[in-house]
Amino acid sequence: MISLSRNSTAPASASGDAETIVNVGLDDRAYDIVIGRGVLRSLGERIVAVRPGVRTAIVTDRSVAAHWLEPVEATLADAGVPSSRIVVGEGEATKSYQVLEQVSEALIAAKIERNDLVIALGGGVIGDLAGFAASIVRRGVDFVQVPTTLLAQVDSSVGGKTGINSPHGKNLLGAFHQPVLVVADTEVLDTLPERQFRAGYAEVAKYGVLGDAAFFAWLEANRDEIFSGGPARERAIAESCRAKAAIVARDERETGDRALLNLGHTFGHALEAATGFSDRLFHGEGVSIGMVLAAELSAELGMLDAGDAARVTRHLSEAGLPTRLQEVAGFAQEGLADADALMALMAQDKKVKRGRLTFILLKALGEAVIVNDVEPQTVRNFLARKLG
Ligand code: GLY
Repeated sequence: MISLSRNSTAPASASGDAETIVNVGLDDRAYDIVIGRGVLRSLGERIVAVRPGVRTAIVTDRSVAAHWLEPVEATLADAGVPSSRIVVGEGEATKSYQVLEQVSEALIAAKIERNDLVIALGGGVIGDLAGFAASIVRRGVDFVQVPTTLLAQVDSSVGGKTGINSPHGKNLLGAFHQPVLVVADTEVLDTLPERQFRAGYAEVAKYGVLGDAAFFAWLEANRDEIFSGGPARERAIAESCRAKAAIVARDERETGDRALLNLGHTFGHALEAATGFSDRLFHGEGVSIGMVLAAELSAELGMLDAGDAARVTRHLSEAGLPTRLQEVAGFAQEGLADADALMALMAQDKKVKRGRLTFILLKALGEAVIVNDVEPQTVRNFLARKLG
């Protein structure tokens, strides 16, 4: 199994909880991901350490604000870091032109300058939105990610992808803008609704399925403790961040290997679009079904042992995640139970090049490959069978 690049034995906070630090090795833009229970309480000191003398603006949503805005403001105040707050609505609809404008104007009004910091406090939506606003205000302001969902802690807060949705599709506007620090406090997951935690777990399992069979086996053995909040949870998050950091460090702009992180996403994004990016299907749930479809398609193409495809399905299902198209709420509604409609949605995805579909498929459990020229008819027939 992968080992962590750097472990700190220093206490994360006055409570003495341990922290793990994973470094994202991007030369002069390298940054640390700090993971542990209670690490949020030291956010102010950590910001002073990376950017002494800054002003900050915290971007968050209403539901995260109710739990975590005051503690974040308190740690900043204790460290002598001035802060202002920008609170927006929650949900995928927040990743819009309108809310981007609102946040950008609020950052300018708060007099956030080029050497100041934006703090993204929230899940993937807030990280993507606040990071994108930071990338364009004054041609680029640095930012810190404080992810508050499992999905954001193991995926979206790491690697610098920021953006908003277009009416044409998900994440079609954005920029690569790396944070200068990520602080992932696993204690905040205690207040996360269980469905959100499960959805984030799909991205944890993804790292095992795509690149680390030993990690996948460890997840199979430790799933209960990860869900109940024991030390295995921190370890699963740290291992996931380590896996992502390694891929981002070797392919920041997704010209090669980084595309492996899109395992399950071509199908998953189509399902999210078909359900109107609504609560009918969370992103991680779409990734779960998408990963199963990618494994089954790999098996059908003779690339993957059918037993390994079944193992992926079993693990996600035992974690309480959906694994079949038919499990999506409102499955019978238009766009979902129709292979041609799903194909049309996949054609909108960024992973399409001149009519050929790019899929991340599996050669083995723990070994994903990028396949650039999947014949659309093959996928259509496969989907029609799955829907039949
Ligand atoms: N979530 C996929 C990536 O960051 O590349």
